[in-house]
Amino acid sequence: MEKINDYLCRYKGYVFVTEKLIVEHIDSLQNFEIRDSDVFLVTYPKSGTIWTQNIILLICESDNRDEAEQSNNPEKMPWLEFPQGHSDFSSRASPRYFASHLTPALMPPGLKDKKPKIVYVARNPKDVAVSYFHFSHMLTKLETPKSFEEFLQQYLAGDVGGSSWFDHIRVWHTHKDEYNILFLTYEDMIMDLRSAVEKIARFLGRDLDEAAISRVVEKATFKNMRKDPKANYEFLPTEILQGKFMRKGTVGDWKNIFTVAQNEMFDRIYQERMKDLPLKFIWDIK
Ligand code: PPS
Repeated sequence: MEKINDYLCRYKGYVFVTEKLIVEHIDSLQNFEIRDSDVFLVTYPKSGTIWTQNIILLICESDNRDEAEQSNNPEKMPWLEFPQGHSDFSSRASPRYFASHLTPALMPPGLKDKKPKIVYVARNPKDVAVSYFHFSHMLTKLETPKSFEEFLQQYLAGDVGGSSWFDHIRVWHTHKDEYNILFLTYEDMIMDLRSAVEKIARFLGRDLDEAAISRVVEKATFKNMRKDPKANYEFLPTEILQGKFMRKGTVGDWKNIFTVAQNEMFDRIYQERMKDLPLKFIWDIK
């Protein structure tokens, strides 16, 4: 295990928040038994995880959503890499739901054999950087960056939790045919939430009628989800989170913080590192 700073360490090529890393658990994922019915949500951090987590759960519970039920979304869809505070994953009833920021090498190998459903959400890396920068001020388990420039350098070097955005996208995208995976982008979800919900429902094999789709869309808008205490992560104690998890929810916020020089440098690195990947991101919405 290699120490990156007082908060982060690299283990098996992936950067973890040191306080949250349980090495034995990460190792045990190599023997974790996958079920055909499992549903995984995989993202690089700050790419729309809790949004998609809410959408998946709303879709899957649309016929039996018990409004009085008290569980928060991460109790229903825990982080695969962080078992803390959850019952033993293997004793959970099917279908099981998991969220993860991990890369394929650290995930259970059974993902390739059993072909459970994986929803992968990618977000343009400039907005990810900005969202992550603000989040680093809010999450007490992360170092508070001295400046955006300092954070941007760490982010580009992959010295942030979740490692490099470029590596994450590359490895999941280039291996996607080995998995049963639905690739979505945050920007497409922003531009047409209804289509995204329909796509996810179809992928999950849930036959929702128009009215049910409308209900999911309504509950998943930024405005409404921000008011939903089971979905908006405001249940995290202030010793962990000081600020709003659901911050702005827009495309193009990077323009408010990147300098011209930072943007030019980023574009150069992006062109170089992404040139052989058939991915196009939306950087702004007029
Ligand atoms: S984490 O910490 O990795 O789980 O964060 P993650 O959930 O992946 O990303 C947080 C960003 O997603 C935004 N968000 C939303 N955007 C649009 N609509 C909805 N409903 C929604 N819910 C969460 C959230 O605001 C973070 O983005 P920023 O740019 O910081 O606002």
